[in-house]
Amino acid sequence: MIAVGDGLWLLSTPTSGYVVRLAGDATPTCAHWGPALTLDQARDLPAGWPELPVEGGAWFGVAGLQIRYGDAVRGVEWRHLGHAVEGDQLVLHMADGHYPLEITLHYRVRGETIERWTTVTNCGAEPVTLLRCDSAAWSLPHRDGYRLSHVSGDWGREFQLRRTDLTMAETVLTSRRGHSGHHANPWLMVDDGHATEEHGEVWSVALAWSGSWRITVERDQHDRVGLSGGFGHEGLTWRLGAGESVDTPVFAGVYSPAGFGGASHRWHDYARTFLLDDRTRPVVFNSWEATEFDISQEQQMALAERAAALGVELFVMDDAWFGGRTSDRVGLGDWWPNPDRFPEGLAPLIEHVRKLGMTFGLWVEPESVNPDSELYRTHPEWVLRQPNRRSTEVRNQLLLDFSRNEVAAWAHRWLDDLVRRHDISFLKWDMNRPFTEAGDEVWVPFVRNVYAIIDQLRADHPQLTIEGCASGGGRADLGMLARTDQTWTSDNTDAAQRIAIQHGYSQLYPVRTMGAWVTDSPNAITGRLTPLRFRFHVAMSGALGIGGDLLRWTPQELEEATALVEQYKRIRSVVHGGRLDRLGRWAVQYTLEDEVAVFLWRPTTLVGRDAPVRLRGLDPDGVYRDEDTGVLHHGAVLMSHGLPRPLPFDALSDLRRLIRC
Ligand code: DGJ
Repeated sequence: MIAVGDGLWLLSTPTSGYVVRLAGDATPTCAHWGPALTLDQARDLPAGWPELPVEGGAWFGVAGLQIRYGDAVRGVEWRHLGHAVEGDQLVLHMADGHYPLEITLHYRVRGETIERWTTVTNCGAEPVTLLRCDSAAWSLPHRDGYRLSHVSGDWGREFQLRRTDLTMAETVLTSRRGHSGHHANPWLMVDDGHATEEHGEVWSVALAWSGSWRITVERDQHDRVGLSGGFGHEGLTWRLGAGESVDTPVFAGVYSPAGFGGASHRWHDYARTFLLDDRTRPVVFNSWEATEFDISQEQQMALAERAAALGVELFVMDDAWFGGRTSDRVGLGDWWPNPDRFPEGLAPLIEHVRKLGMTFGLWVEPESVNPDSELYRTHPEWVLRQPNRRSTEVRNQLLLDFSRNEVAAWAHRWLDDLVRRHDISFLKWDMNRPFTEAGDEVWVPFVRNVYAIIDQLRADHPQLTIEGCASGGGRADLGMLARTDQTWTSDNTDAAQRIAIQHGYSQLYPVRTMGAWVTDSPNAITGRLTPLRFRFHVAMSGALGIGGDLLRWTPQELEEATALVEQYKRIRSVVHGGRLDRLGRWAVQYTLEDEVAVFLWRPTTLVGRDAPVRLRGLDPDGVYRDEDTGVLHHGAVLMSHGLPRPLPFDALSDLRRLIRC
């Protein structure tokens, strides 16, 4: 809901309020972001932190909008042109007081989330240069303390949650890699210094962008906190020609009066309601860990037979099905079935998979090319390159310049053709290297063209599900999530380590998008031995998949796995559609109306004692039946005393299913 006063706008979500006020010099500022207010209450609030700080005047903080005009003058002096309200959307029309430059600030209330973005238009005849063009700035009311929460990581250890005091300085979270990155993720939370999972105030922002990005958190000398974020990293510039505009990506914000858990609930609701559809995420088998590059039609058929018998619903053939791709040195870019491995094309395998009652999916990596490929030999000019500079190879591959429309059109053509000519309902879209040798003009159009291709494919092939992947979770963000159905969370499938990865991922993103495979023991990356049940219990708390070499699983393992897949299908709607509560680091609860699923894990003795686990959000007067044991529990007791956690040894786990009687 949006209410309008005199130079004052109040945006209300069901539980929070956001107030924009024009300062005396027409600077749009944030007068309030926090608990709900009425317009009357908001009228007394003074102007606050700029909504989009610019260079100029006595502003010495981070400038989210940095401009150079033709005469070398910089900065903006604000002029207010008007506003428009349409439903839950507010548009503030602003301009520079002297130069022909319009700046439009967009706001949209979506559930508990406020989306914000900016359009800058050069209305003059001379080009201007943008050094920085953030989507928005957010600021907090004064509190006694502030902590910063965010994730960091690397390949194989993405989404490690960090929580630190916010130092009185500028803290920069950024990616200069052309994708959102393993090392960081474009979101953060600031709390009042002592928030917990259930209590305390948390302010959180997330950027819907899958390329380079920067979010700066500033705690200034007056102990005020503001954050500015947008696409691109420092040092990139945009030229805005006469009449041209630039639209920034959405930078969304959530206020939670109910701790970090409350912030996560709000983000999950936002993604589920506005970004994702509610189609059931199938149980996947993915062949990568089982076969890597050594694949054949017969072997894939045999794996498919085993997978179908377990109850798998979607069979995905990963890398190495195309061109001359027998290792990561060759073939990337040659998107036709490898004639030695699939002499009659993909049809026999797909038919086999379909007859087994599963749908079929394929791995692709459209943005990359091996120098040893037909594509590169034909179009060496298509790769990202700069004159007088060496070409950097990562994983023996170069990047195609997707900012060029002809390259993007080529990619769309072969992908569309692949899906049109085969019975394919799933693509895993991978991207295994960052940008190098990219000129200023590449970074944004590249990502926009990736988006456009995926959007077009989905519009033309509504049956198609797309999984986003960049060597695991290197490109997981709200931008990608808005156009994919799930994410390949990490190449690290060690269940004991995966718990921490999933803990970080699910701070912001809903677990129905969190691809999680059960693979072999010992684990391929860590060498850790874990029981099958533990591996399943960790993967079942996301979007379950299987990625082990089923041809080597024993009859006992296959039997146990079949029962666990069946159990997962019974709780899938609760896990994917329910509210997620993190019960410490080693237990999660999902609640959907009267149904509850609780996963209890004990990865190592060092982290998990046998303390009972207190559940959340139940009906205190309700009685809950344990579906497996028939034991009845009172809601009030489960919430104040908890469920016992009888897990005496390492790598043990439990799944408890409770239904309110
Ligand atoms: C990286 C992905 O994260 C893996 O799951 C797998 O698809 C490989 N690429 C294939 O090359």
